[in-house]
Parts: sequence; C-alpha cells; structure tokens
Amino acid sequence: MSLGNLEDLFLHELKDTYDAEKRMTKALPKMARAASSEKLQQAFRKHLAQTETHVERLERIFKMLNKPARGKKCMAMTGLIEEGSELMSEAGTEATIDAGLIGAAQKVEHYEIAAYGTMATYAELLGLNEAEKLLKQTLAEEKKTDEDLTQLASSINFQAENPDSHAEDGETSSRRGRKGGRSTSNSSGRGRRGGKKDGSVFSQMGEALSTMVGG
Ligand SMILES: [Fe+2]
Ligand SMILES: [Fe+2]
Repeated sequence: MSLGNLEDLFLHELKDTYDAEKRMTKALPKMARAASSEKLQQAFRKHLAQTETHVERLERIFKMLNKPARGKKCMAMTGLIEEGSELMSEAGTEATIDAGLIGAAQKVEHYEIAAYGTMATYAELLGLNEAEKLLKQTLAEEKKTDEDLTQLASSINFQAENPDSHAEDGETSSRRGRKGGRSTSNSSGRGRRGGKKDGSVFSQMGEALSTMVGG
C-alpha cells in the first residue's frame, strides 16, 4: 500500500498491530503452560483475555474506517515470539526459565506500548476520537501488564539468582511436575545448574527495558 498521508500510515500500523495481537493470542497460552510459577501462569492467562479484547478493539476501529480487518505480517512480533520459543526449549531451573519468560513478555509489552502510543497519537491528529479512546484503553492495559510483570520479576529473579532459596511466599511447591509440599533445596531444579548466570542476564535486561520506558 502507498503511504501518501497520515491516514495511510495509521491504517498500516493498525494492520501490523492486528497481526501482532493475533499472534500473541496463540503465544500466551504456550507461555502460561511453560511457566512454573502459578502467579506467572495467572498473569499470562489474564493478559490473554485482555489481548482478545485488544483484537476486538482493533476490529472496531477497522469498521469505523470502513476497512476490512486484515493484518499484515508483523515481523517484530514474529521475532519476539520466536525468541520466547527458543527460551522455552532450553533446559534450566524453573525460576530461571520463568525469569526469562518475564523478560520475553516485557519485550512484547514494550513493543505494544510503542505501537499503541503511536497509533493513539495518529488517531488524535486525524480527529478519530472514538478510535483514540479505544487505543488509549489498550495502551493503559499494556502498561499495567508491564508493571505487573516487573512486580513478579522481583521475586522470580531472586529465585533464579538463588536457586536454593525458598523466597517466593510458598511458591516453591508449584515446581514443575511436583504436586504439593515444599521441595527441598536440592530437588528444586529441573536441569543443569548453569541457568543461574542466564537468569541474571535476563533480569538485568528486564530492568534495563523497564528503566528505558520509565516503568
Ligand atoms: Fe495487546
Ligand atoms: Fe500485551
């Protein structure tokens, strides 16, 4: 499509984000299954429900513009999801994998925050008040999700850094493949111990990204 004016660019961004959100409705259930922490699983499931609403809001905006709701392959989201999938296939301790999943999810949220912030500005400039309102609603939810993930990371990063600790308010009993009871310090891992280093890198990335957007 040719980009002759801001309205063309707005439609272009809508299509990109529509594709991105639809990809996330497929990725989030996998991320929830890959997470060991029950709180993290819940966070991913909650955001899945929100993401389905985000898709619907975009469809409403397409309708307002009298355009068919059609996505255009979002290369960025494809890449971010690909990176998350690679992480899920790694061996490692549960807390370290969880910390990595949080980092991967926050990268997605930051991409979406940029996309919705941009689209809301375009909608405002184009005088599309209803669209602007819907985009700002989604923007607020993406920001809140990012904040919630930062909150979860504070305990999960600590666990990844200290695999022998029982830091997270009783959450050690939710270790993958384990039902009930507290796991002993030596039985809490599900693979090689080398994951410790990776956890620190991921936590730093998450914190660095949060700092970048002031979240
Ligand atoms: Fe979204
Ligand atoms: Fe999101």
